[in-house]
Amino acid sequence: AGQPFDYRVADLGLAEFGRKEIRLAEQEMPGLMVLRDEFRDTRPLHGARISGSLHMTVQTAVLIETLVALGAEVRWASCNIFSTQDHAAAAVVVGPEGTVDEPRGVPVFAWKGETLQEYWWCTEQMLTWPGATGPTTIVDDGGDATLLVHLGAEYARAGAVPATSPEDSEEFGVLLDVLRRSIAERPDTWTTMADGIRGVTEETTTGVHRLYDLERSGRLLFPAINVNDSVTKSKFDNRYGIRHSLIDGINRATDVLIGGKVAVVCGYGDVGKGCAESLRGQGARVVVTEIDPICALQAVMDGYQVARLEDVVEQADIFVTATGSRDVITADHMARMRHQAIVCNIGHFDNEIDVAGLTAVPGIVRDQVKPQVDEWRFPDGHSVILLSEGRLVNLGNATGHPSFVMSTSFANQVLAQIEVFTKPDQYQRRVYTLPKQLDERIARVHLEALGARLTTLTKSQADYLNLPVDGPYKPDHYRY
Ligand code: NAI
Repeated sequence: AGQPFDYRVADLGLAEFGRKEIRLAEQEMPGLMVLRDEFRDTRPLHGARISGSLHMTVQTAVLIETLVALGAEVRWASCNIFSTQDHAAAAVVVGPEGTVDEPRGVPVFAWKGETLQEYWWCTEQMLTWPGATGPTTIVDDGGDATLLVHLGAEYARAGAVPATSPEDSEEFGVLLDVLRRSIAERPDTWTTMADGIRGVTEETTTGVHRLYDLERSGRLLFPAINVNDSVTKSKFDNRYGIRHSLIDGINRATDVLIGGKVAVVCGYGDVGKGCAESLRGQGARVVVTEIDPICALQAVMDGYQVARLEDVVEQADIFVTATGSRDVITADHMARMRHQAIVCNIGHFDNEIDVAGLTAVPGIVRDQVKPQVDEWRFPDGHSVILLSEGRLVNLGNATGHPSFVMSTSFANQVLAQIEVFTKPDQYQRRVYTLPKQLDERIARVHLEALGARLTTLTKSQADYLNLPVDGPYKPDHYRY
């Protein structure tokens, strides 16, 4: 007998282990479980076809099963070649009620260690709905699914996919190949799909940048909700999640003692703040690099040295990029580093560290220590240890953020999905953030789970501050 549905994961036999970890995670994800309870009967996502491109971890499994509990049909892929937890992927395919022989869960296309060709194949499968034109909504993390649909529709309308140029990254070249093939097979695939999409909800800073670019240039094809800039997302996941998962990645990769070392954190936004605190917590002396004087001043006030990378590159032991920019650490920098300096990136894409440039250094030798840990030996004998080939270290070398903080992020995702799916008339082709009431509500649920007791405004205090007793408590311009 054929499979009841198509999927591709590493090993369905890992499903039982995955299910056990999902069960433990559910207890740690009160935001998602409260939403399951609240919407179990009304099922606001009934009829939704959700395509998700977001790291296929245990926490994401709880998100996926929440979307299903709210009535949606779901297809999923990871948004990074190294970030899938294979046991979580297997458990989602099998589903809470299925068996390995008879999976009854959700089609997942993801495994740890995909090639770039496999990555875009998985993304395409996740967007392709058997018997339907495509998804009704997208959950995106970094914007790759949104990019594929937008470029596909754009090239299909123009009647041609541009030739791959030598300037293009290998990754972009593969994406162009996918579009060339799919448009040749079915010219209207991407335009029809784009027309059917009610909206995308975007998880991360880098994806949000891409969305605002599309909006500004008038090319955004459907409404978008910026989940990242919910306060209960970026001020928690990007910061406290990173504080946990950065050193988790470095430890699992290298087990080097962080105390007493000099660590450079490039970028002092939300993620950089979490990185610096994480490394300082282990006793490292942290140096921050920044381009923005405000963030640089924050770093100084927090007690970190602020310097230029070129001035400290010979003195540091650990380098972390957290900028969302490109070419922050170059091959020239790595040529000047100490022997066995650890180099890693925690920003969304792998171009923060010039890995292509490193590979091209004449006479350089790559020696793989274990998967996602490579020693690159320069001709002069010194080496650098590059983690996850420059892809996000917390998801490549460890398991990403822990459940509790992902519960705050994913509660925003679920509410954003309900918004775009159930209110298609209220959203234009623009980028929106969720209202502050929802943000405060998500925080409230997580406070309760931690046993914290919030103070309630008295009526006279509320009148004095001109605030509703039940919130929202801050104006939209407040920065937290
Ligand atoms: P952000 O915009 O708050 O911070 C980035 C900072 O880098 C800014 O302050 C900017 O001024 C600075 N910067 C830019 N170019 C620089 C350069 N050349 N040198 C030094 N500093 C520079 O962004 P956020 O939220 O901190 O995110 C950073 C990256 O991390 C993004 O790519 C985001 O998508 C990703 N991210 C990764 C997560 C993970 O789990 N690995 C979780 C959340 C976000």
